[in-house]
Amino acid sequence: MTTEQSTQWWRDAVIYQVYPRSFADADGDGVGDLPGITARLDHLAGLGVDAVWLSPFYPSPQADAGYDVANYRDVDPLFGRLADFDALVARAHALGIRVIVDLVPNHTSDEHPWFQAALAAGPGSPERDRYCFRDEPNDWESIFGGSAWTQVEDGQWYLHLFDVRQPDLNWNNPEVRAEFVEILRFWLDRGVDGFRVDVSHGLIKTWEPSDKVDAPPPAIPDGPEPMWDQDGVHEIYRSWRKVVDSYPGERILVAEAWVDPIERMARYVRPDEMHQAFNFAYLLASWSADAIREVVDSSLAVCQAVGAPTTWVLSNHDVVRHTSRFGYADGTLPRNGIAAADPQPDEALGLRRGRAASMLMLALPGAAYVYQGEEFGLPEHSTLPDDVRQDPTWVRSGHTVVGRDGCRVPIPWAAGGPSYGFGPDSRSWLPQPPAWDRYALDRQRGVEGSTYELYRAALRLRREYALGAGTLTWWPEAGPDAVAFRNGGVVVVANLGAEPVALPAGARVLLASGDLDVDGRVPTDTAVWALV
Ligand code: GLC
Repeated sequence: MTTEQSTQWWRDAVIYQVYPRSFADADGDGVGDLPGITARLDHLAGLGVDAVWLSPFYPSPQADAGYDVANYRDVDPLFGRLADFDALVARAHALGIRVIVDLVPNHTSDEHPWFQAALAAGPGSPERDRYCFRDEPNDWESIFGGSAWTQVEDGQWYLHLFDVRQPDLNWNNPEVRAEFVEILRFWLDRGVDGFRVDVSHGLIKTWEPSDKVDAPPPAIPDGPEPMWDQDGVHEIYRSWRKVVDSYPGERILVAEAWVDPIERMARYVRPDEMHQAFNFAYLLASWSADAIREVVDSSLAVCQAVGAPTTWVLSNHDVVRHTSRFGYADGTLPRNGIAAADPQPDEALGLRRGRAASMLMLALPGAAYVYQGEEFGLPEHSTLPDDVRQDPTWVRSGHTVVGRDGCRVPIPWAAGGPSYGFGPDSRSWLPQPPAWDRYALDRQRGVEGSTYELYRAALRLRREYALGAGTLTWWPEAGPDAVAFRNGGVVVVANLGAEPVALPAGARVLLASGDLDVDGRVPTDTAVWALV
């Protein structure tokens, strides 16, 4: 590692995702808020994370849980006020935790003043040109289901790649570009350490770029998914990189780009673009040693080729929690929700594998993302009643895609209490399942072998042995059903096969996700870190 790289905190950071509405509710309205987060920052410091990423807390009608922003420079009263945000940043920084906020540039809320002005101004107006209005729709479909186009009263159609209440901005319009630079500056001036950039791969569609703004908008070709991952997005990120680099202290940009193959992901983290991109190929891998080794290899290779750190992620607010995803002995890998009527995951199997998967992830070189509640071993809420679902996916898919509510349920802090300590009383914007007592923090803190203590120890050892900054060398002696490697002086063995795996002779176990067998071997669905 070069001297320059050693000051780049983000290269080996552990970044914890807070989903504000479900983290901690200070005011008791059943929705988490910024003061709730601030009050729980000690927990994150105790866990040992380097940074938090906050999902959106901006003023929003909450049609997509805040990913529909009506004002990019304020806090929704649901979550608090700007002063609460400043207090959160101050407390986090005092604890040595950096703060990353979510930036949603692909679309606004339909309640954003720009969209309201566009509706009022009518066809052909400069106000409409900030969005993607056309006289005729094409065949594109919304990610949440149904057509990606909605007609307005005067007959024109606007594009929304997500919900009907999330109109896509026209990134070929210079005013849109200028506005987002100002938004970046607004939050940078308030002290944020970076931005997670929502739908980074979506901003530029397939029509012609800005030198044609005065010409009538070209027709949009039909096509399966031509709106994603266009080359034109990269110049936007190059310009943003200059903005964040003009501030002291290594502020970062993180791409949320669901692109394929993985080589395309690496294009977002070229030296003059973003700092990191979520590694969704890793998240999507099945519980199979071959699949995981392959994606680790390709991830490291494509990121190394552009000088960026690899990132690792297993769970977030958009996918089934990994403890439940890996809870199917037959290899089923649900991603977009589990309904009460679906085959249910085996909770014990999922937890066992989930703990092993987390230890494996946290030992890999690069940066790692942890989603709130992961450190409690929390499963998906897989039996939510359909009538409480709030994810627009559920409605827009005509109730065919369950959606993401199950991974967004408020998390348990205290056993026995109403809302498991999420808020002061029993209110919780999504119902919590019965029997979450055993996952509550106060049942796990100080308890040897608990998932919380496993994460805490893993983060401490990861730091002590500089695993995030290390290099991986495969250790094939562990056999084809294990994911096994050396990272510096630490050997990591995750056994995904049916037979126990022996550690190297003389190995001293540092941490294990489950008990070893009587012969000191690593059993099925268990991961071990050892010194050799
Ligand atoms: C991203 C967010 C997701 C949201 C979508 C639209 O994928 O992670 O939650 O629904 O963008 O903003």
